[in-house]
Amino acid sequence: MSENTMPKKLRSREWFANPDNIDMTALYLERYLNFGLSLEELQGGKPIIGIAQTGSDLSPCNRHHLVLAERVREGIREAGGIAIEFPVHPIQETGKRPTAGLDRNLAYLGLVEAIYGYPLDGVVLTTGCDKTTPALLMAAATVNIPAICLSVGPMLNGWHKGERTGSGTIVWKAREMLAKGEIDDAQFIRLVASSAPSTGYCNTMGTATTMNSLAEALGMMLPGSAAIPAPYRDRQECAWRTGRRIVEMVHEDLKPSDILTREAFHNAIVVNSAIGGSTNAPIHLCAIARHMGVDVPLQDWEDVGHDVPLLVNLQPVGEYLGEDYYRAGGVPAVVGQLLSAGLIHADAMTVNGRTIGENCRDAVIEDEKVIRPISQPMAEKAGFLVLSGNLFGAAIMKTSVIGPDFRARYLSNPDDPEAFEGTAVVFDGPEDYHHRIDNLELGLDENSILFMRGAGPIGYPGSAEVVNMRPPAYLLAQGIDALPCIGDGRQSGTSGSPSILNVSPEAAAGGALALLKTGDKVRVDLRQRRVDVLVDEPEMQRRREELNAAGGYAYPPSQTPWQKILRDLVGQMDTGAILEGSESFQRIAQTRGIPRNNH
Ligand code: FES
Ligand code: MG
Repeated sequence: MSENTMPKKLRSREWFANPDNIDMTALYLERYLNFGLSLEELQGGKPIIGIAQTGSDLSPCNRHHLVLAERVREGIREAGGIAIEFPVHPIQETGKRPTAGLDRNLAYLGLVEAIYGYPLDGVVLTTGCDKTTPALLMAAATVNIPAICLSVGPMLNGWHKGERTGSGTIVWKAREMLAKGEIDDAQFIRLVASSAPSTGYCNTMGTATTMNSLAEALGMMLPGSAAIPAPYRDRQECAWRTGRRIVEMVHEDLKPSDILTREAFHNAIVVNSAIGGSTNAPIHLCAIARHMGVDVPLQDWEDVGHDVPLLVNLQPVGEYLGEDYYRAGGVPAVVGQLLSAGLIHADAMTVNGRTIGENCRDAVIEDEKVIRPISQPMAEKAGFLVLSGNLFGAAIMKTSVIGPDFRARYLSNPDDPEAFEGTAVVFDGPEDYHHRIDNLELGLDENSILFMRGAGPIGYPGSAEVVNMRPPAYLLAQGIDALPCIGDGRQSGTSGSPSILNVSPEAAAGGALALLKTGDKVRVDLRQRRVDVLVDEPEMQRRREELNAAGGYAYPPSQTPWQKILRDLVGQMDTGAILEGSESFQRIAQTRGIPRNNH
């Protein structure tokens, strides 16, 4: 066997089969033998595969991974590997207070230590609920050992009185119905609960379906696997295939750095536009890219993604849900359409050892109501806009959720197309908003622009999904279903609100949003990609000095050690909201070999 066809030495052999360090080898072997593995297995050159388990009783969205992991193990074993399952810090989007946004970087840190510091040759990333997918991919990028994602899959479709009820999306709708007095509290709860009929993650095109679709588009998940609903038998089979494939990937030494290239990130941006993906995607993709060491600036979302048409008819933008998406062909059908229009880098490598072009070129749409052919899209130019102005350096807007009513009211002035002016109404956090929104003295009308601040990575902390704010009940009663919303927080991917959000820098980081006052006139110009407060510079300067004298924008004190640590280290959303440090800090484990012995 020539030098370059010799199989690469397995990382785990440094622990279990190192003749140069027999006393440490004995120590490592002794405790792993203890749970039933034999010397033959541990020293026989079999790849040791971690299963990074995100399912638990605290994480209902990902809980089915506890079952799927059994099939992953069988796949690993059949392919000649050894499976070692271990827990990841739980992240559950709707259960965690003050926000699951706090935990993405914490789960990331923990997983880096686990896969870097233990005898693992490859890892299966069990993805699902919103932040679990980026947290796990960020860690895989930092350590850069062979890694493959397994989506837990969406819940089955929700139904109420013969209509599809989608995760999250039904909450926003039911809130309006409750505010208008159309339903009572008990009906509200029943309606919302109808959207969650089975195990799995949100069945809408929320952040979970988005991020799992993008993990597939990035090439980090077996083709066709992101959209399989959690309870389907195909999901079990996919778990088994994923287990088999990761063992092969270790033998091939196919690493995240071979897959997560700039072209792959651009493919994911294009797919995000075509699926009508979440406004959380730019934050998470940027975070993964920075840990991989690939340059994907926020502006790429507009430059690469804006002109891409919307093809997928899923809530909140459209009508359908996860089961329909899978039956219509899922990610490969979408990518197949985009490939035919030359919008995808076909040569990008994927975890199955083939390119995305090879995987998806022949994929067909099985139901054109759910996935549209590119010749008949749901909407043209459906990507994000990247905005700036004198209130912030960067923010994004998802154009595919701008509905006809909103467009007619705000963006159809023939003398000033795609621009409007309004009066700012400023809320400091969601509590302030909930207390005051229905207060008649606030005097809101259709010219009001709602601002949310104090909701960013530092201010909240962790950045909360609170920018989509419903109008007061008396405006809803007049048929005004949406007011323009702008804020330094995020919003749920399940929300169809055309907000301007992810504002960076946030008020708590010294952003000019902290200087805004209720009553200020604000101009939004989508053509110019600008949002500006129409207050002169000397007055803004005076407000800045006043704020500085008061010690800066006030936010609640940290309640846990991690909240404090995150606030000290976290960056802003336009650069991924990751823990900042030098560039080598983001990717340190990629470059430092194997850690030293522990005794
Ligand atoms: Fe977990 Fe939506 S809340 S996937
Ligand atoms: Mg959410």
